[in-house]
Amino acid sequence: MSEFSQLRSELVALLRAHASGAGADLRGLFATDPDRARRFALDLPGCWLDLSKQALTDDLIADAAAMAERMDLRTALQQLFAGETVNASEGRAALHTLLRVPPDAPVAAALRDRHNDMQNTLLRMHALAEHLAASGIETLVNLGIGGSDLGPRLVYDALSATALPNRRLRFVANVDGNALSGVLRHLDPRRSAFVLASKSFGTQETHMNARSAMEWMRRHGLSEHEIEQRLIAVTAKPAAARAMGVPEAHILAFDEAVGGRYSVWSAIGFPLVYAFGSERFRQLLAGAHEIDQHVLYTPWASNAGFLLALIELLHRCGYGHPTHAVVVYDERLARLPEYLQQLEMESNGKSVDVEGSTLEYPTAPVVWGGVGTSVQHAFFQALHQGTDVVPVSFIAAANIEHDFPGHHDALIANMAAQSAALLRGRTYAEALAQEAAPDHATGQARARQRVFAGNRPSTTMLLDRLDARTLGALVALMEHKVYLAGRLLGINSFDQWGVELGKEICGVLLPWVAGGAQIDGMDASTAALVARYRRLRG
Ligand code: F6P
Repeated sequence: MSEFSQLRSELVALLRAHASGAGADLRGLFATDPDRARRFALDLPGCWLDLSKQALTDDLIADAAAMAERMDLRTALQQLFAGETVNASEGRAALHTLLRVPPDAPVAAALRDRHNDMQNTLLRMHALAEHLAASGIETLVNLGIGGSDLGPRLVYDALSATALPNRRLRFVANVDGNALSGVLRHLDPRRSAFVLASKSFGTQETHMNARSAMEWMRRHGLSEHEIEQRLIAVTAKPAAARAMGVPEAHILAFDEAVGGRYSVWSAIGFPLVYAFGSERFRQLLAGAHEIDQHVLYTPWASNAGFLLALIELLHRCGYGHPTHAVVVYDERLARLPEYLQQLEMESNGKSVDVEGSTLEYPTAPVVWGGVGTSVQHAFFQALHQGTDVVPVSFIAAANIEHDFPGHHDALIANMAAQSAALLRGRTYAEALAQEAAPDHATGQARARQRVFAGNRPSTTMLLDRLDARTLGALVALMEHKVYLAGRLLGINSFDQWGVELGKEICGVLLPWVAGGAQIDGMDASTAALVARYRRLRG
């Protein structure tokens, strides 16, 4: 066993001991510490993070911080910021934090050229966005998937009420033709342009959507020159974009060392510069940079990234909770659960560590969620009384931009009530006391069904308001949580080999699915599915 796996086992043992010891009674922690709500909350730039409804204790934090030191977590963080090779299997750095370093801030000599390139790209993004707007483009359609879609989509949905006049974004990710035709149906081809957003420039979905969008423009009578003028490529493979006919001035390149799901800060954010202007995009970067500084320089005991990572590992390795629900009490953040799903599950959903050893511990939770209050009337029943404990992250903004303050008070009251109910629960005696016939078997059976176990953990994040800066901070904080949790487990959070096998098999199957000869070597079930599909398609 390597020294690191030895330490990792110790960390997991610590988490398990806490889960069955001091961390077994969350309500009890409140009862014995009247100051808990203050002591386990953090004031971060633009947001208040309440961790008191997690079973953290001073002892756990101190012990975990000591373990983090022994596991060289501080060095791991410094390596990330210094542009060292933290993505070992692909032999790369992960440069998302560099993208957020302001133009005038000091940068290590080794990263200066790359930082300059990034700043120049930002200027080019601004110039190209203004050029498109001045040419009468009113809709920019982002054709990209995964990290080349979810970030810009999240930010656009969150801030779309404040988009510049006559600039709207549409997004097509899926290879499902319904996605593309649903967007194209409403477009004027002469007032629209398409961003081909793909780090690899080889992703099937984006390629097919790009080709079909070009064909659609042709069908609407646009010349080849006019079509080219409506294509913008955002990629780490500019040569492939050139080969597809995208004009040089419309190619925005970003560094290979920016991971797809960490790329909203790069040229992948171009649609946001178009929609909101480059100043607002810089605010997004600035909010993220503030969190970068917090995570890099704050001691573990009050470091939000570390504490969130610790909580996550406590849930997974300590208690064995299989999932994590992200519930946003803000319609504008409806995309956040999906965004975090990719960030977390594609980064840390792995069962082998960087040394190639099979992990004996659970890794990323299944991340899911939705928008409150709506989901209170859907899955909250299971959160309160289901057999699995589901830790919840509640996220809301204090200040509003709409004209219905009464609605907002009700929204926040609902969120507060849900986390309170998860914590408090309801005992059998309390439930029975509310029954009209507590002495009868039916009343007692009903009371038993109205018991809430309580003790269910949640984190609450209250943004001052939802704007570019706080959203940047929120996303950056989640990135750091994922990286720190990954490092403590010995995982490379920046590769994603798990998506490859399905892509390979799809490549083999597609000719048969599309009407070609049958492919040998498929399992009987898959072969039957394709054969049935072919028959139904006639
Ligand atoms: O599905 C895997 C993945 O590689 C993601 O990591 C990535 O964000 C997405 O596909 C899109 O990739 P690309 O930007 O290269 O088209």
